This record gives sequence, structure tokens and C-alpha cells, in this order.
Amino acid sequence: MYYIDFLTEVHRRHRPGAYLEIGVASGKSLRLAGCRAVGVDPAFAITTPLDNDVAVLRTTSDEYFNRPDPMQVTKGQPYELAFIDGLHLFEFALRDYINTERHSSAHGMIILDDMYPRTVDEAARVRHTDAWTGDVFWIIEVLAKYRPELTVVGVDTQPTGLLLVLGLDPADTTLTDHYDEILAEFRRSDPQPVPAAILDRSSVFPAARLLESELIEAARSAETPAEIQANLQRVAASRLGADFVNA
Ligand SMILES: C[S@@+](CC[C@H](N)C(=O)[O-])C[C@H]1O[C@@H](n2cnc3c(N)ncnc32)[C@H](O)[C@@H]1O
Repeated sequence: MYYIDFLTEVHRRHRPGAYLEIGVASGKSLRLAGCRAVGVDPAFAITTPLDNDVAVLRTTSDEYFNRPDPMQVTKGQPYELAFIDGLHLFEFALRDYINTERHSSAHGMIILDDMYPRTVDEAARVRHTDAWTGDVFWIIEVLAKYRPELTVVGVDTQPTGLLLVLGLDPADTTLTDHYDEILAEFRRSDPQPVPAAILDRSSVFPAARLLESELIEAARSAETPAEIQANLQRVAASRLGADFVNA
């Protein structure tokens, strides 16, 4: 399944109250939102007419989150769906994840793009290929190590795979507290030692089956992060199987 088709279905099933997109480019993914939508990109060049309720900010994600009140643009409504597809360097995507979760609802979900490079060249920090994922795939291991209570599922979409993260806790500071330690452990020079499981996609879940699994629906099954996390892990274990969750 093409990633835009997966995102389209997530919007339809989850019906977020507010949507954040980091990395807008032409607007192809931003236009999918049927709710208040915020796009952040220092160099967007919209080619698709956007007729939804959208604010596109010509700035970097770091600058956006460093504003005194980043949520002014949604009138204080936390994000219920976010797509992180900005600068494809590990530390930038990690900060994007940390900042996005902090401004998300416990019912929310975050989708990260380009998590399954097809070659070591495509995963390089110093870009030298046309299609480029960079080294953002390290986030999969970081979340497994530091945030095991999250439900994290690799999604088998074209061209370069997605990571779906549910069970968010906006008050959790674990990743911020360990930020320097995480960079010291995971940020590597090129060529990236991309794990075989990433390159051959052995732990990604088929996109169509994921949409049918009721995992997305379980994100609204309770109110507190702990209750939602428990429900999500139950659904994930029974409908997806242990091999595919937090892999
Ligand atoms: C792969 S494109 C986004 C594609 C779009 N999401 C889609 O699916 O059609 C990546 C975008 O990230 C933007 N970008 C680069 N650095 C960024 C940053 N620090 N913060 C936000 N966006 C950034 C680039 O300008 C580029 O337009």
C-alpha cells in the first residue's frame, strides 16, 4: 500500500480533532486532514490546492515548538494525529517525536515516515541518493528501549515504510531526560549499520491488515494514558502478534 493511502484511511477511521504535519513539501499529505491542521516546513511549495482548515507555517519544527505557545494555532486543542516527515536526521526526528507527543492527546497517534530504508546508501546521514530516508530508523530501537509502554508498529507501506506509535503520554519525560545519552548511543557516522530486520522489513506489519485490526479504534478506548496503553497492548497482542509490536 502506498503511504498516502494508509494515511487517508487513518484519517477516516480515527477522525482526529487536530492534525500536525512536520514536513509539508507540496501539500500532498497535508490535504488529507478533515480537521484543524497545522503544517510546519521552512521550504514548503504547495502545488495541491488546500481547501481544508489549515495553517502552514514557514519555519522549522524546532522553532515552532520553541514558541511561547505553539498550541495557539489550534486554540489550545492537542493534536490527535501527527505525521513526522521533516528533516531525516535521527536527532531532528527524535526531537520532533518528543515535542509532538508533549502536545498530543492521550488518544492521539504519531506516524513517522521513512523508517524502513531499502539500502545503506539511502540511510546515510550525508545525503547522496535521490530517494533519502536518512538515519531516522534508529528511533525504532530508541522507543523499544526507553518507552516500552507505547504501542509501536512498523507499517509495510511504499516507498519507505511508516512507524505508527500509539498510547501517547504527553507528560512523559523519559526521552527528554535521556536525550544526550540516546544520541551518544544511537547516532553513528556513515555508513549506517542498518539492521537486517530494517532492510528486509521482517518485522513490519501489512498495512491493510493493520487497518482492519481495530488498533486505531482502541486509541479511544479509555481516558488516561495508562488505561489506553493497557487496552492497546491487549489488542496488539491478540490481533497483530508479539513479533510485530515494539519490534
Ligand atoms: C519528504 S518532504 C515532506 C513530504 C510530505 N509530507 C508528503 O508526504 O507529501 C520533507 C520536507 O521537510 C521539510 N523540512 C526540512 N527540514 C525541516 C525542519 N527542520 N522542520 C520542518 N520541516 C523540515 C523540507 O523542506 C521538505 O519539504
